[in-house]
Amino acid sequence: MSTRNTSLSTPLSVAPFPSRRLNRWAEMVWRVAGSVDVRTKILGMVLALTTVFGLAVTLQVRAVMTRVFMEELEGRGVSVASDLASRSIDPILLNDTYALHELLSETVNNHPDAWYAFVLDRDNQVIAHTFGDAGFPADLLNPTLAVAAPNLYGTIRHWIYASNEGRVHEMVAPIMGGSAGVVRLGLTEARLQAVVNTVTGQMILTTLLVALAGIVAAMFLTWLLTRPILDLVETTQEVGRGNLQARAPHWADDEIGTLADAFNQMVADLDASRRAVAEKEQARFLLLKKLISAQEEERKRIARELHDGVGQMLTSLMVGMRTMQRSDDAALNQERMEELCTTAGETLEQVRVLSRELRPSLLDDLGLAAALERYAGEFTRAHAAIAVDLHCDLPGRLPSTIETALYRIVQEAMTNAARHGKATAVSVLVSRRANSVQAIVEDNGAGFNVEAVRRQQSSVGIFGMSERAELLGGALDIESSPEGTTVYVEIPL
Ligand SMILES: Nc1ncnc2c1ncn2[C@@H]1O[C@H](COP(=O)(O)OP(=O)(O)OP(=O)(O)O)[C@@H](O)[C@H]1O
Ligand SMILES: [Mg+2]
Repeated sequence: MSTRNTSLSTPLSVAPFPSRRLNRWAEMVWRVAGSVDVRTKILGMVLALTTVFGLAVTLQVRAVMTRVFMEELEGRGVSVASDLASRSIDPILLNDTYALHELLSETVNNHPDAWYAFVLDRDNQVIAHTFGDAGFPADLLNPTLAVAAPNLYGTIRHWIYASNEGRVHEMVAPIMGGSAGVVRLGLTEARLQAVVNTVTGQMILTTLLVALAGIVAAMFLTWLLTRPILDLVETTQEVGRGNLQARAPHWADDEIGTLADAFNQMVADLDASRRAVAEKEQARFLLLKKLISAQEEERKRIARELHDGVGQMLTSLMVGMRTMQRSDDAALNQERMEELCTTAGETLEQVRVLSRELRPSLLDDLGLAAALERYAGEFTRAHAAIAVDLHCDLPGRLPSTIETALYRIVQEAMTNAARHGKATAVSVLVSRRANSVQAIVEDNGAGFNVEAVRRQQSSVGIFGMSERAELLGGALDIESSPEGTTVYVEIPL
């Protein structure tokens, strides 16, 4: 079905014949031009230009020279022929054939392009000629030589015919208006043609030399041009193989140099970002390790706590109840009952503390502000020397992931201030913006080199703070000086 459709539509879509052929030509040229390298293309261009230009100039000069020479030849022929005609009058009238012959010979010898001259009388009989011993060629009197419409220069007729000597321009000048016969002078183009050929040959030679010089210059220029490109290609392949240290050489301050610089910058950026990703991966790995070991520690602690605290109390409860079971002394049992109640109350309190430590349930129940309030209280109890100033400007609740993240970040920043900074005051400010929530924890401790600590990658606490903020699309920044440290965090809502 589809074949039939194609065959039906083909005649309509086919271009007219000449343009189809033109397209095929263009395609062929494009294929050939596209398959050769830049050097060959430029060499071809230079060669084609010099050759075409040289040949065109040569041909034009040749045509102009030929035209000028021929006009000059004719002009000279006309003046020599008319001079001969007037100077022939006397010898003809005196019937002095010798003088006439001398006149013709002298004229032909003095004129470089003259081949022959002869005089005919009124009856077309040759009176004198310059052919010497070879004899007068009878062909010259052949009437077919005379062209039907010869050029006329006043009374002098001019025609051209071909001979063994090349083209011959013949001038026919009447003597005494024709009443004493005519003088005919033959001039050949041979000498002038030889001059034109010599000049043409020299011009072609010059063209060849210029083309040769052009090729040498073009080879040098293309070498200059392609060398940096080839270097760039090589560097690209090197980078493709994974070597991010490879750099393209900067050969010159031109466009290719700029391209090489841009490429090098790109590779350097790629290298830097790869390094950053690898560093982040490493830090993430450390965090995970620490998280897992912290979980293990916590479990062990809870197990210990349950065993040593709650377990012991429950055991003493059980022992107390058994003793009560066996005893009939009501007064003593009443006393024991009170003790057991106290122990049960203490056990309950221990369980509460444990569960609160496991999860700050206030965060779930009452929100971030209340949880931070509670934590600040605990912090003050644990670090009596540190004054805590907490301000929470949080109308309403935040998403629970954000509340947890901010709680942990503030907790870590405050712990660090107490643990490392030896601060005497910590201020915490949490506020809600139009589209984000911001927390600032500031201490007046000794400060530290933030960049160095970040580079070490072993600082899991700081990395964990950043990670929590970034996971929620936010950002965390730390500024530190000997006067104190400030942690800024902003998380979008
Ligand atoms: N507020 C601060 N004042 C002074 N130094 C600080 C402060 N916060 C962090 N530091 C320095 O940065 C280092 C890294 O802190 P980070 O919280 O990442 O790790 P840590 O507190 O040593 O251990 P943890 O992983 O338990 O938090 C600290 O060892 C400390 O030298
Ligand atoms: Mg820490």
